[in-house]
Amino acid sequence: MTNGVRHTPKVFSGNAHPALAREICESLGIPLGKARVGRFPDGEVRLQILENVRGADVFVIQPTCRPVNDNLVELLVMLDALSRASAYRITAVMPYYAYARQDRKDRPRVPISSKLVADLLTSAGADRVLALDLHAGQIQGFFDIPVDHLYATPVTVGYFRRLKLKNLVVVSPDTGGVERARAFAKKLKVPLAIIDKRREDVDVVEMFNVIGDVEDKTCLVVDDLIGTAGTLVKSAQALKEKGADRVYACCTHGVFADGAIKKICAAPLEQVVATNSIPLTPEAEQCGRIKVLSVGKLLADAIRSIHEETSVSKLFI
Ligand code: R5P
Repeated sequence: MTNGVRHTPKVFSGNAHPALAREICESLGIPLGKARVGRFPDGEVRLQILENVRGADVFVIQPTCRPVNDNLVELLVMLDALSRASAYRITAVMPYYAYARQDRKDRPRVPISSKLVADLLTSAGADRVLALDLHAGQIQGFFDIPVDHLYATPVTVGYFRRLKLKNLVVVSPDTGGVERARAFAKKLKVPLAIIDKRREDVDVVEMFNVIGDVEDKTCLVVDDLIGTAGTLVKSAQALKEKGADRVYACCTHGVFADGAIKKICAAPLEQVVATNSIPLTPEAEQCGRIKVLSVGKLLADAIRSIHEETSVSKLFI
């Protein structure tokens, strides 16, 4: 019997996404661990684990969605508390990993923030990380602890298979996302088109050239995340200009920064699919075009596999 099996699994959550944590616990058939996660009067995170975790195999569910820095600090502080409380092993479960796009020095004198976050997690006490659709797979290499990298495709591809859209083409909204979109297209057994996107600054999106045949097709733009929705909306417009019949979109992380939903509502988009890796903003909830798919069971299955030390990759092959 392996160590992981001998030690009881326990799941805790900060304030980032308690609904997802509860869903995961339901799927695992265990109660959510008791913890108090609040604030001191000056705004500092105040946290206490309210049950014994000595020798436990602990999983902390905390996507670092908005408020990003608060949620990140809650996670770090919780890891520290669990480690000092003698948990046997601690896995930071990050359905959404913020700062992932700051993964290289793409201009002078900028930080590599995703590496810094990796270091912080490790210093705080994480023994492992379970992540979902990292912006770049190489982020795994920023950690010197094991990282299990899940893909939401069993959920998202499954949804589009059931929709049975005719004349479908999967579209990558930029060259950096080709590998992701190609995998999606392969699973759906449909062709791939690529948008050659040129971005001059972080918040400025420009020039969208379509590579591939999209005329009279139903296009499905696949991305890891939708932030400002600038990329998506300009992609949809470029595809329509090239004669696309209808445009759908699918992402794992519906970040939906301020103003994104308004843009989506005004764009030539049939439906935008996202997972619940991040809680939906009230604005997005009210927008009839956003469809949310749950990754709760997928994450629960991965947690079970990690605990029982069985293959995680079998979940998405
Ligand atoms: C870019 O590399 C990413 O994959 C997304 O396309 C991008 O981050 C989306 O951001 P936004 O919605 O702000 O255009």
